[in-house]
Amino acid sequence: MDLQHIRQDFPLLRDNKIVYFDSACQSLRSQSVIDKIVEYYTDYPACGGRSMHKLAARVTEEVDAARATIAKFLNAKKKEEIIFTRNTTEGINLIANSLGFKSGDIVVTSDKEHNSNLIPWQVLAEKLGIKHLIVKSLPDNTFDLAAFETLLKKNKVKLVSIVQTSNLDGVTNPIEQIINVAHQHQALVSIDAAQSAPHEKIDVQKLDADFVVFSGHKMLGPSGTGILYGKQKLLDNLQPFLVGGDTVASSTYTEHEFLPVPEKFEAGLQDYAGIIGLAEAVRYLQKVGLEKIAQQEEELNEYLTTELLKLPKVKILGPEDAKQRGGIVSFYVEKVDVHQIALMLSEQGIMVRSGQHCVHSWFNAHQLKGSVRVSFYFYNTKEEVDRFVRELKKIMNVLL
Ligand SMILES: Cc1ncc(COP(=O)(O)O)c(C=O)c1O
Repeated sequence: MDLQHIRQDFPLLRDNKIVYFDSACQSLRSQSVIDKIVEYYTDYPACGGRSMHKLAARVTEEVDAARATIAKFLNAKKKEEIIFTRNTTEGINLIANSLGFKSGDIVVTSDKEHNSNLIPWQVLAEKLGIKHLIVKSLPDNTFDLAAFETLLKKNKVKLVSIVQTSNLDGVTNPIEQIINVAHQHQALVSIDAAQSAPHEKIDVQKLDADFVVFSGHKMLGPSGTGILYGKQKLLDNLQPFLVGGDTVASSTYTEHEFLPVPEKFEAGLQDYAGIIGLAEAVRYLQKVGLEKIAQQEEELNEYLTTELLKLPKVKILGPEDAKQRGGIVSFYVEKVDVHQIALMLSEQGIMVRSGQHCVHSWFNAHQLKGSVRVSFYFYNTKEEVDRFVRELKKIMNVLL
């Protein structure tokens, strides 16, 4: 698939008016994903798994096929290991509330976690008395594997819940080594793959990951869709967090019998259009190829980084080396309000995110107010980077 063709697949990009550099928040959707959602609402807008009629049977079939598509995408052993959620946040909350934590249990995270992988542990610490330990990053904001290893040697850790690729600066943590070390010390590992699943192959069997969570809306999927992968033997032993309709085989006025995974975790009527649309998104990404996607983003990152480093007063978060920051360039301009930059860029048709990106803890610890975050996806181009740099220079001339 050539790039020009790819841009034609995204309605917002067809006339080149908008530069969309906010895919880490939410990606754009291909026409094929939009069509698949419309197909559900137009042709078979019924319940899955409940009613016996033809339309319901079609929904059940499509949802089942979607689960199989995602399982293959992650190389899961079985499609039953795939649980549909609303987003990464829900997946992490499910683990936090279902793994049977008790007072004194230890959870380890990095110091660069999104609030979604921080607040659930803080709440469990308050409610149940779990201990939340944090591995501090190295001075260049990369993961300190040695400190992590020492921490695991010294403490009996129940769960390492860690981000794979940071939404703050784009740095990817050495997830294979993290899992190896954790497993050597009998700790489980949950990977926050919100910023990695859209860009790189995650092979859950090769990684030996216990849990992987991510969001569909950062990888061309519909808003409010997500995945929790878990090894079946772990999922079998988890207590469901949300319970009710569709989670039980039967109930009396006093008792109930839960269905096996994945049903016991998918309470209530599901976002069928979202699930079916997400599978279409995965098929599209597989057609483009994750390697090609990562390569395009890296090239754009390298190009923009070179340009930004020429500008005085611009500071890039994380390592200067673009190769270590995937598709994200997060920066601030000394003494300039980051929101002001984002608003002025928006006036010129360029969409970026500004602020603390739900990683307030890191910004507070570093006494920084925020950053402007450019996040690329494979549909972005060098010409768009040129336009961004041109506009940024004009803004800096006005503001500095
Ligand atoms: C690394 C990371 N983790 C978790 C999340 C939360 O994702 P969601 O809001 O889709 O639950 C995000 C969202 O930006 C993220 O970047």
